[in-house]
Amino acid sequence: MTTTTPGPPALRTAVGTARTRVEGREKVTGTARYAGEIPFADLAHGWLVLSPITRGRIRDIDTAPVLAMPGVLTVLHHGNAPRLYTDYVGMLGTPPDPAAVVFQHDKVPFAGWPVALVVAETPEEAREAAEALVVTYDREPHSTVLTADDPDAYPAAGFMPAATEKGDLQGRLASSAVVLDEEYTTPEEQHSMMEPHAATARWEGGRLEVVDSNQGAGWVQSELATLFSLDASSVRVRSEHIGGGFGSKGLRAHQVSAVMAATALRRPVRVVLTRRQTFSLAGYRSPTTQRVRLGADADGRLRALDHRSLNQTSTVYEFVEPSAGVARVLYDADAHRTANHVVRLDVPSPTWMRAPGEAPGSFAIESALDELAERAGIDPVELRLRNEPETGPVSGLPFSSNNLAACLREGARRFGWADRDPRPGIRYDGRWLLGTGMAAASFEAGAMPSTALVTAEASGSYTVRIAAADIGTGARTALTLIAADALETTPERVHVRIGDSDFGPAMIAGGSMGTRSWAWAVTAAATELRERLAVTPDIPPEGITVRSDTTEALGALAQKERHSFGAQFAEVAVDTSSGEIRVRRMLGIFAAGRIVNPLTARNQLVGGMTWGISMALHEEAVRDRNTGRHYSPDLAGYHVATHADVPDIEADWVDDHDPDDPIGIKGVGEIGIVGAAAAVANAVWHATGVRHRNLPIRPDRVLAAAALPPSDSGAADA
Ligand code: MOS
Repeated sequence: MTTTTPGPPALRTAVGTARTRVEGREKVTGTARYAGEIPFADLAHGWLVLSPITRGRIRDIDTAPVLAMPGVLTVLHHGNAPRLYTDYVGMLGTPPDPAAVVFQHDKVPFAGWPVALVVAETPEEAREAAEALVVTYDREPHSTVLTADDPDAYPAAGFMPAATEKGDLQGRLASSAVVLDEEYTTPEEQHSMMEPHAATARWEGGRLEVVDSNQGAGWVQSELATLFSLDASSVRVRSEHIGGGFGSKGLRAHQVSAVMAATALRRPVRVVLTRRQTFSLAGYRSPTTQRVRLGADADGRLRALDHRSLNQTSTVYEFVEPSAGVARVLYDADAHRTANHVVRLDVPSPTWMRAPGEAPGSFAIESALDELAERAGIDPVELRLRNEPETGPVSGLPFSSNNLAACLREGARRFGWADRDPRPGIRYDGRWLLGTGMAAASFEAGAMPSTALVTAEASGSYTVRIAAADIGTGARTALTLIAADALETTPERVHVRIGDSDFGPAMIAGGSMGTRSWAWAVTAAATELRERLAVTPDIPPEGITVRSDTTEALGALAQKERHSFGAQFAEVAVDTSSGEIRVRRMLGIFAAGRIVNPLTARNQLVGGMTWGISMALHEEAVRDRNTGRHYSPDLAGYHVATHADVPDIEADWVDDHDPDDPIGIKGVGEIGIVGAAAAVANAVWHATGVRHRNLPIRPDRVLAAAALPPSDSGAADA
């Protein structure tokens, strides 16, 4: 017989243990309420009317017939909407996207531009009336096609320098033993989060309250306060449960139009975007056209590297998809040049989308490295190991930690890479040609200033309050573990409340920086609270609250190259008679800092890798050049990988403790997609002997390539 003696909980053991989501039961039983389903008394419903024309002006909006329709309360448009204050730069360093700042003028800069909001008693009445609203336009000619040699393209910085350059590029290319000069393209991609955008705005006790689905309650709160010239303290934004964001859930037309309508009608107004509306109003990943030039010695050491990327943006907002930035981290060369360009077209504004820059940029550079390996007769893993930079290739700064080599070696070992025959197009399994491919990955690791409140309750439990966002990542659960360890208690005694701008400034869920930024603030407040309780253990009825602010601590961090790294491996089967590609297995090994919750971290990494499969094979939003509009902007026309497309995917990690983070965290939100599409494309080459430099690798592209004579393989892009 065994007996157990209950003892004190082991200290600081929560971080690193696999935990299901603390709100998991609420989510799977449907009691978790999302922004579009929280009930409000006297709620009115707004429906956005979008422009079917691609460029021009609104000549007339005939509101009278619609105002007479059942349940219709008002129609807002540029003729009656309040003018907003837009001349500012927000907390993320960007001005507001005019596509979100609705109804300010009569110009139409792209198809799907919001021209009116019809508000009615029910969503059905609002939709009926919105579809009946007659808007007449004066059309102007438009241009919506991105081309590599567009003369109007210009270098643009966005959130990193536009260009970097060192060394004599032409000279180094000319003297290299192995050279490569290729173009790669990626298409327009859509975030496709499960929950479309939704917001309810209401005035309550002299304060504007917006219940929203976003990646940062404080972010949206500060934008709305500025736009509407309100005191920040009189605006509250809440965002408790979020069905995915991936970069798209910031300030958008739905919140701004809901606030306008709630103010005009003096009652709560909800605006929900349809899936189709998200295609033009919620941002997207711009298509890219990228040119990569590489020069290497016979042993594969890079002597010249040139990566130029071009993306489109709207005529009203500049967004840079910084695809050329990835080579500033991964590879050095004597001559090294990277440059991001944009061109303004009559298209919706693109925005951040999971691993902005790295996702499409790694497709180009990691495909190019694979081509270089082929030409030099060097194993692709070995080629990357030979080109590991000692310091930041552009900055010259030391890495905080760089465990890419460990990822490459561990991944190669577990994937069985050593047995690979490098020759392409020779392995058959019935009608399938088989191949394997790999790619390296990096994504910036950072932290941004945040504040947190931690309260010791008289009941003996603890409450953490921070304006964090859990967009499906498991952030709420991760912060519970973080707080438990800092308080030296068990996770069961910690209650984490997030998604409320009243909790004070905090980083958004973005840039893979959320958990690290919030964990830092929570740890600081919890540590101070624990120290106070050690001296004064008596807790008054209102509890004891400690507030932290990490601004100073982060400002004191030394300048370093801080990144997560990864190695992606894929095996594919290609049927060149049908054009079908099946990914058979994938392995990703990551060095992404200390892993707070292995269960949800693995989920993030596998999710990113799944995006990579989807990017490689399926995703492509196609625009008709004549109308300027999308074909079939919905999840029937826009293909994302679904269960049957996703094979055995394994994600794991090597030890990687960020030395400058109090917990050792880096971040896992975006590294999973980086390199994943290249690994799949490189495997398709290994299977078939044909390079696909344009994503997605659709069946028709596989068929067209298979129809070419063998001597043309390697240039099969259509
Ligand atoms: Mo992410 S693209 O930083 O939400």
